[in-house]
Amino acid sequence: MPPLASFRPRRSRALRLLALGCLCFIAFAQWKQLSRPAASVLPPSPELTIHGLSVKRLQEDLATCAKLRAKPQDPIGAGRERNARYLDGHPPVLIKNASVWVGEPDAGTPAEAARNGTGYSWINADVYLEYGLIKRVEPSIALSSVASDAVVFHAHGRPLTAGIIDMHSHAGVNSLPELWGDEDTNEMASDITPYVRSIDGIQPGDHQLQVIKSGGVTTTLILPGSANNMGGEAYVIKLAVGKADGRNEASAADMLADPDRTWRFMKMACGENAKRVYGRPGQQGPTSRLGESWEFRHAFEQATKLVREQDDWCDAAAALGVHHMKSYLPQELRWESLGALLRDQVRLNTHCYTIPDLEAFVDHTNEFKFKVRAFHHAHQTFLVPEILKRAYGGEPPASCLFADNAYYKAESATASEYAGKILYDNGLTPIYVSDNPVLNAQHVIFEAAKAYRYGLPYHAALAAVTTAPAERLGFGNRLGKIKPGFDADVVVWDSDPLSLGAAPVQVWIDGTPQFEEPVVLKKPPAELIVPDETLAKILDGPTPMEEVVFTGISRVLFRKEVKELSSNSTVVLSKGKVTCLGACEPELQAATRAGTPVIHLKNGHLTESFTAFGSKVGLNAIDAEADTDNGPNFGAFTRAEDGLALDTIKTTIAHSHGVTKAISAPRLTGHGTHHGTSVGFATGAKTPLGKHAIFASDAAVHYTLDLSVKNARQPDVTSISGAVGALRRKLLHAAAAARNASSSTPDAYSEQFYLQRVVNGSLALVVTVHSVDAIAALLRVKAAVEEERAGAGAALRLVVFGGAESHLLADELAAARVGVVLAPAFSYAHYWDQRRALTGAPLTNGTAVDRLLDAGVLTGIGLDGDSDWAVQDLGLLAGIVWRNGEGRVDERGALELVGGNLYKLLGVKEPGVEEGHFVVWEGSPLDIGGRVKAVGGGQGVVDVWN
Ligand SMILES: *[C@@H]1O[C@H](CO)[C@@H](O)[C@H](O)[C@H]1NC(C)=O
Ligand SMILES: *[C@@H]1O[C@H](CO)[C@@H](O)[C@H](O)[C@H]1NC(C)=O
Ligand SMILES: *[C@@H]1O[C@H](CO)[C@@H](O)[C@H](O)[C@H]1NC(C)=O
Ligand SMILES: *[C@@H]1O[C@H](CO)[C@@H](O)[C@H](O)[C@H]1NC(C)=O
Ligand SMILES: *[C@@H]1O[C@H](CO)[C@@H](O)[C@H](O)[C@H]1NC(C)=O
Repeated sequence: MPPLASFRPRRSRALRLLALGCLCFIAFAQWKQLSRPAASVLPPSPELTIHGLSVKRLQEDLATCAKLRAKPQDPIGAGRERNARYLDGHPPVLIKNASVWVGEPDAGTPAEAARNGTGYSWINADVYLEYGLIKRVEPSIALSSVASDAVVFHAHGRPLTAGIIDMHSHAGVNSLPELWGDEDTNEMASDITPYVRSIDGIQPGDHQLQVIKSGGVTTTLILPGSANNMGGEAYVIKLAVGKADGRNEASAADMLADPDRTWRFMKMACGENAKRVYGRPGQQGPTSRLGESWEFRHAFEQATKLVREQDDWCDAAAALGVHHMKSYLPQELRWESLGALLRDQVRLNTHCYTIPDLEAFVDHTNEFKFKVRAFHHAHQTFLVPEILKRAYGGEPPASCLFADNAYYKAESATASEYAGKILYDNGLTPIYVSDNPVLNAQHVIFEAAKAYRYGLPYHAALAAVTTAPAERLGFGNRLGKIKPGFDADVVVWDSDPLSLGAAPVQVWIDGTPQFEEPVVLKKPPAELIVPDETLAKILDGPTPMEEVVFTGISRVLFRKEVKELSSNSTVVLSKGKVTCLGACEPELQAATRAGTPVIHLKNGHLTESFTAFGSKVGLNAIDAEADTDNGPNFGAFTRAEDGLALDTIKTTIAHSHGVTKAISAPRLTGHGTHHGTSVGFATGAKTPLGKHAIFASDAAVHYTLDLSVKNARQPDVTSISGAVGALRRKLLHAAAAARNASSSTPDAYSEQFYLQRVVNGSLALVVTVHSVDAIAALLRVKAAVEEERAGAGAALRLVVFGGAESHLLADELAAARVGVVLAPAFSYAHYWDQRRALTGAPLTNGTAVDRLLDAGVLTGIGLDGDSDWAVQDLGLLAGIVWRNGEGRVDERGALELVGGNLYKLLGVKEPGVEEGHFVVWEGSPLDIGGRVKAVGGGQGVVDVWN
């Protein structure tokens, strides 16, 4: 904290105290005069004052005054003998031969240069942990120089960082899999609940805490949810839980990162949520942002009043002596924590997306004189750095962000992947967070990696999940760096932490290793990323071009082949098609003569484009806005083609990230459910009648067997068994009809019509289902239908969509020739029917995709309904499968997961390079730093970014 910021309020406080003192003196003099006639009244007993108040309690109140006025300082790091969290009996640890990211630049680096990354590097060192602290970070620490009981860990040159800090999580209060009885995220008794505390709901037994830690996250801020304008107090915990993790007992208090509780933390939220959750016109507010500001200001007014009354009381008691007080210290639990915020004892984190929200909240900080340490979900902060700089306290709030999760509600529709870079360029602080379970906090490092991909300097991206949150939480002296005096929270990674698929091989919290038998993936030796400064340039585009040439193509990853080209090959693109690939010298010369743009690439790649399968892209623009959505199907069975709506933010994002094709089905009820036939379409088409807009009018028939079917208002279906039975009945009926030569042909476009095609194997049946039990039921349905069809044609072409638990039946699925589209690609047991999901190393041996590939199941990756935004990450997800797959797939095989395999599963012809669907990349699409340079989406032109 800059000295000026902490000094100024103190001086004004001193003046105020003086003024208060004078007022008190006048009041006292008045009281003396008025009360003179009563002076002969004696106190009834020595324990009571003449006003009948308890002397003991008054003295306690006076002592409370000192606490009320305490000014927290960030807890010290260096200078401690031992970490207050350290438990006796844990041996010291010597980590040999690590590549260490210290978290700060070399000593003496000028601040300006350091901000640009100068002085930051990976250094080879050994790290010695003792008494829960980092004690030494030096090259070649001799074994003879450390305690004889030290345990040696050989890092073999692997990257070592401080434990990752996730500054926005609901783990523990929103335990996974979600169950009503475990749900304690928001206290919804009222919109204004600053008085509730997340610690009162933290379940140490939430398995997700272990999953999160397996991603190298050691510390996290557990916030109440964002339903309320004032949500309550928050707590910073470490993810070592109970005996298994080297602690005494599984308790939330034991998890507190600072057992002394130096700082308190609080959550507030502006914008859509409070008005949606609480607003009842004519009954209760807020129903608008206007009302929300009133709720905020009214609450702050109460707390301000309490603080003033307390200060007056404390000043008077100090000046006159407690015996003269006519009342006890005013206290009110409802406003106590908010009072502490006004006294600068609380670090406030406020969820605010939009400019009006940010601007109103910054106004409140100045009106009531309190600091906000970070805005969360701060999607629009990058547009208004000056508003942030106006916040009270002289230190602009940090912006806690997702890298690319957006479009789920109106206030998240204006988002930019470049927000982190832009904020940083403006001298502000981007921090990346999970909002677990919105994102799986296990992979919060992936958010930082994507921030780097989108222009945030490498060192700032790492800082965004280490030193920056540490500083904002008041732990800047203890967490986030690998330096003597810091807490011994350390991660050794299997690859550069900002590379795709990076996983810890071991995690230490307060010097105690957290994984007894960590699964370590077989990977090539870690190659540290050399920061690519060209990523800092935000590319211009898209520019539609009829003719364009790219040189510097070094690899072609097409469906059938991986072509290694000479390092500087050329691709000529004309009217949206690839017309030459290779040396192409005459073409290049002709192009140069004709003035065609020639763009030189470094390590250029040419690939097929990707396909978004199972998302709402093309059927919905903003999830929470019904007007922008095709709507649910409930009883009806409809065709997605009939609801196709193009030229939305989602289709645009998809196309510009090389996802030029999508296969989307109408939803049954909630997001992530399907009912009807899917349509295959080009995401770059502007209208459904556009040229080559639709490539598969009815790509597949979709049904849903996940938890939502129980409430989907389907005729006669109120249970899983009912839904399975209904599907079986429909299929058997279709099969019987198919056998009966004299049965009438069903109406075209009717459900029966499509089911006839399903039972004769000419149309795929895609069932959205996660639980292994429901998948088992589905396999029995398939067998029953095929028996009915015995001898009458092809097998049912069945595809499991979702498939979080499909790995448990991998062999059975392979034997039944049933394919799986995993959606999400990496489930984390968000819901009950996904609870047996595999979350990967170091906790589990691989994830579902590895098990399915091992068993020979034809597998793809799709998008579950809650994550259409991830459409831009399809290549990266494939990259993670490739890097963590221990050779199960090569690069081409990985790309097939989001391309060719989907078409094989459906039996639909994929529009390919010949039809003008391809992507030109600078770098590899399977690397964090690979960037789209040109997209051909089958529309006769190429969109170029340069
Ligand atoms: C560190 O480990 C790497 C990889 O195993 C090895 O090549 C290197 O020689 C080791 N360095 C030291 C100092 O042991
Ligand atoms: C690649 O080829 C193009 C066209 O021949 C040329 O302009 C460019 O300088 C070459 N780049 C490299 C790195 O050789
Ligand atoms: C075959 O279809 C006809 C016409 O719909 C129907 O009358 C007949 O009962 C069916 N036969 C069987 C065996 O289902
Ligand atoms: C399957 O059934 C549909 C609808 O009755 C029909 O049009 C199609 O030709 C059949 N296909 C095969 C392969 O039997
Ligand atoms: C992980 O699973 C693979 C495939 O089943 C097996 O070969 C390997 O030994 C397992 N590894 C560990 C660490 O259990």
